[in-house]
Amino acid sequence: AERLGRELAPSRVEVIPVIGSTNQHWLAAIPRLDKGDVCLAECQTAGRGRRGRAWISPFGGQLILSLYWRLEQGMAAAMGLSLVVGIAVVEALQARGFEGVQLKWPNDLYLGGRKLAGILVEMSGTAGGPCHLVIGVGLNLLLPKEEQTRIDQPWAELAELGEITDRNALVVALVGYLQRYLARFEREGIAAFREQWNRLDYFNGKPVRVLMGEQEVHGRARGIDDQGALLLELDGGEIKRFLGGEVSLRPQ
Ligand code: BTN
Repeated sequence: AERLGRELAPSRVEVIPVIGSTNQHWLAAIPRLDKGDVCLAECQTAGRGRRGRAWISPFGGQLILSLYWRLEQGMAAAMGLSLVVGIAVVEALQARGFEGVQLKWPNDLYLGGRKLAGILVEMSGTAGGPCHLVIGVGLNLLLPKEEQTRIDQPWAELAELGEITDRNALVVALVGYLQRYLARFEREGIAAFREQWNRLDYFNGKPVRVLMGEQEVHGRARGIDDQGALLLELDGGEIKRFLGGEVSLRPQ
């Protein structure tokens, strides 16, 4: 059988058939990791999603990856990084011939308005020290029928776009794009990716609701600004900006 993770040099790669969460595992491994090291799994039993949600990752149906990165300038330098991760994943898919994948702010991958992949960036570090990041990607390839009902939102799978003939080539592309784009982000910041992100934005120009706790704001999505904030055009034409945190975006 095809073995996941082969061909991935020079970064360190750890391949684990079944694990609780690759992000959790890689966070615990930080002291022995180098920038760019990757952990892959076939299945997670306690996959983590954003906002404390669970992430369902059945055996063989997903590409499950965590990548370690470090920012010497500390936590503040990480602002906008997760947007770049989304772009890198979309571009890697394109490079492998899978076209038409889009982004939902801040970093979900969308295919035809349904979720194809999720990204969870977890950080650790102390004030004044470097920021350690574990960047987790869960990408639906072809989900086993019996697991599909466990996913509680409209979802898509990569197999809709064509046959997945080589998972390893996909992983190699993904890691390559992530490493290159993260390095460029460190040099140039999020502003350098603004146009590219806006081109891939599924909701750009569409009517949306932005939820912040109990509050809800209606308007038209207008992409991101040079800080990576989501721009919302209100009915009167006024532009409101939203920066990460506990903000989420919904169709109207
Ligand atoms: C989300 O959309 O809520 C984010 C999902 C992130 C899932 C990936 S799978 C690999 C890594 N390990 C985890 O436990 N979560 C991330």
